[in-house]
Amino acid sequence: MSEAPRLDPGPARLRQIDVYLRGVRGRRPVVPLDLARLERRARRAMSRRGFAYLAGGAGLESTLVENRAAFERQRIVPRMLRDVSARDTSVELFGRRHPSPFLLAPIGVLELAHADADLAAARAAAAERVPMIFSNQASVPMERCAAAMGDSERWFQLYWSTSDELVASFVGRAEACGCSAIVVTLDTTMLGWRIRDLDYGYLPFLLGKGLAQYTSDPVFTAALDQAGDGTAAPGGVTPAAVRALVQLARAYPGSAAANLRSRLPRAAVRRFLEIYSRPSLTWDDLPYLRGLTRLPILLKGILHPDDARLALEHGADGIVVSNHGGRQVDGAIASIDALPPIAAAIGGRIPILLDSGVRGGADAFKALALGASAVLVGRPFAYGLAVAGEAGVREVLRNLAADFELTMGLAGCASVAEIGPSSLAGP
Ligand code: FNR
Repeated sequence: MSEAPRLDPGPARLRQIDVYLRGVRGRRPVVPLDLARLERRARRAMSRRGFAYLAGGAGLESTLVENRAAFERQRIVPRMLRDVSARDTSVELFGRRHPSPFLLAPIGVLELAHADADLAAARAAAAERVPMIFSNQASVPMERCAAAMGDSERWFQLYWSTSDELVASFVGRAEACGCSAIVVTLDTTMLGWRIRDLDYGYLPFLLGKGLAQYTSDPVFTAALDQAGDGTAAPGGVTPAAVRALVQLARAYPGSAAANLRSRLPRAAVRRFLEIYSRPSLTWDDLPYLRGLTRLPILLKGILHPDDARLALEHGADGIVVSNHGGRQVDGAIASIDALPPIAAAIGGRIPILLDSGVRGGADAFKALALGASAVLVGRPFAYGLAVAGEAGVREVLRNLAADFELTMGLAGCASVAEIGPSSLAGP
C-alpha cells in the first residue's frame, strides 16, 4: 500500500490550527468569528448614531432581512471522494488573479467605525491581498489609501455627480493613483428612506464626514469660492448646532481653529449636497464615462435581467448585482435571488460580482455556484474595523477566506471552476 504524499495543509487549516492552539493557551480571538457577537462588539465601540448609520437599512428593513433569508434558502449539496487535498480558491477578474473571491465593498464614512477609517481598511486589504473598492464617500482621500497599498489591487467607486467636471476629476485621480477599475453605483441617485437615521436626524455628510474625496479635489474646492455659505440648521443657534459646527471644523482638512472661523467647511457641505448625485442619469450618459477612461467600468446596483442586458449593450465591462445592503429600496429582491436570471442574461460575457448579505464562506460559494465571479463584503469588514482597526479588518478577511476554502473543499470542489449550479439544491 502506498502512502499518501505529505501535502501543504493550506491556509485555511493553518488558520484553524492557529486559533485552536491559541485556545489551548487560553487566548480567544480578539475579533469574534460569530457575526452577531461581532456586530454587538462594533455597536459598543461606536456612537449610537454612527452604528445606526452603518447597520441600518431602508424603510422596514425587509430587504436587509431578506438578503440573509435568501442565502439561507440556497443549500449546498456536497460531493465525496474527489481529492480536495489541494484547494485553489483563486479567481480571475479583468486579467488579474486574486487569492480568494472576496473584495472589500465601497463603504462610505468609515471614520464612524474607527479613526483610521479607510486607511486601516486599505492596509488590511493589501496585507491580505484582497482588492479594495475605494468609496466615493470615503473618509480618507484615495491617494493616501493607494499609497498605503503598494501594488495591491484597488478600484474606485463613483457616484455620478451633477458636475461632469468633478466626475472627470475623480476618474482621473483614480487612474493616477493606480485604481484598475471604475465601479459606478447606480442605485443611489437619491438616499433611501432610512428610518434609523431619520429618527436620529443624523446624516454624517452634514457634519463634514465622508467628504474626503471632495475636499481633496481641485475641481470641487475651486467651486467653493463661488458657493454660498452652507447649511443653516432650521431653528437658529442651539447647543447641538454649535457642536455640529465644531465637528464640521474638525472634519475639514487643515486646522480646526482656522476652520471654525472659515466659511469653507459649510460651503463644502452645501456644494456637496447640491452636486453629489444625478437622478436624471440614463443609459445614454454612459458613453461620457467611457470617453474618460480606458479602465474597465462596472455598473453596481443591477437587479433586473433587462438591466443586465442593457449593461451589456452599453459596453459595461462588468456588473455588481446589489441592493446596496438593503439601504435603498425596502422590499427590493435579495441580490442572490436576482442573480440566476441575470447570469442567464449575461451568459458569461462579462464578470458578475454580487454583494448584500455575504456573511461567510458558504455565501460566497452559493454566489459562485449561481454565476458570480466574486463577491463584495460590506458591513462585516466595517464591524471588524470598529472593533480592532486594521487588525480587525484583517481578521475578518482571513476568516472569510478560510471559511470559503474549507466550504469549497468539503463540498468536493478543488477549485472555483468546479463550483457550479449542480453544487446547490436550490430553494
Ligand atoms: C454602503 N454602500 C456603499 N456603496 C457604494 O457604492 N458607495 C458607498 O459609499 C457606500 N457606502 C456605504 C456605507 C455603509 C455604511 C454601508 C453599510 C453600505 C453599499 C456597499 O457597497 C454594499 O453594497 C453593501 O454594504 C453590501 O451589503 P452588506 O455586505 O453590507 O450586507
